Amino acid sequence: MKKIPNHVAIIMDGNGRWAKGRGLPRIAGHKVGADSLKECVKVCAEIGVKYLTVYAFSTENWARPKDEVSFLMGLLADTIDREVESLNKNNVCLRFLGRLDQFSDQLNGKMRASMDKLSKNTGLNLNVMVNYGGRAEIVDAVNEWVKEEEGRGEGKLITEEKISSHLYTKDIPDPDLLIRTASEMRISNFLLWQIAYAEIYVTDVFWPDFRRNELSKAIESYGSRERRFGKTSEQID
Ligand code: FPP
Repeated sequence: MKKIPNHVAIIMDGNGRWAKGRGLPRIAGHKVGADSLKECVKVCAEIGVKYLTVYAFSTENWARPKDEVSFLMGLLADTIDREVESLNKNNVCLRFLGRLDQFSDQLNGKMRASMDKLSKNTGLNLNVMVNYGGRAEIVDAVNEWVKEEEGRGEGKLITEEKISSHLYTKDIPDPDLLIRTASEMRISNFLLWQIAYAEIYVTDVFWPDFRRNELSKAIESYGSRERRFGKTSEQID
């Protein structure tokens, strides 16, 4: 592969449709989706992607049927229990980002403990966005900044740098490549601020089927793009 993105972000979509197509309950799709995530983490670490950010649960996903929400919470907890040792062995630095305090104390504790355990690792940075919304994140960032400013007196204006440096992702570079599976042409409140210049790749493949080969295709496609960041082609050459 000619050009490897530093940061890959993924909207993992299509678990429900994958399951329906096989006459299975939606939760079966989520379960197999967890295996796709595991494979993508492995491949990203192998090929030298430095940051992988995945959308695991949105601020809007609470509105899904109760059974599905509780299955997803259980899957998160089980995946942490099952994978944390292997992630640690593979030098992965794990972060859960979002409004974590709205989860049960038990799940919240699990997420925080696993982050602490893996926080010194220097390999792939895996960011799992949970109870995450792009708008909520910007609101949280501005509120945090306002609180800091109150302590320092008036007269300050917000800037792009100040918003960036108060987001959940403050010390994470912006994504280079945003992948969305299952063909939907939308952003769904994911990383609204950070994807300003990300290259977007949408595939028909459902998330449970998104494995090594599909990730390679996305990265190949990224390699063929010309990123201009608002400049002209000539300026880039
Ligand atoms: C989207 O498919 C997927 C989700 C809302 C949940 C994502 C969760 C996983 C991939 C499980 C693995 C992740 C972790 C961190 C354990 P959908 O249900 O919206 O599919 P549909 O659009 O076909 O209904």
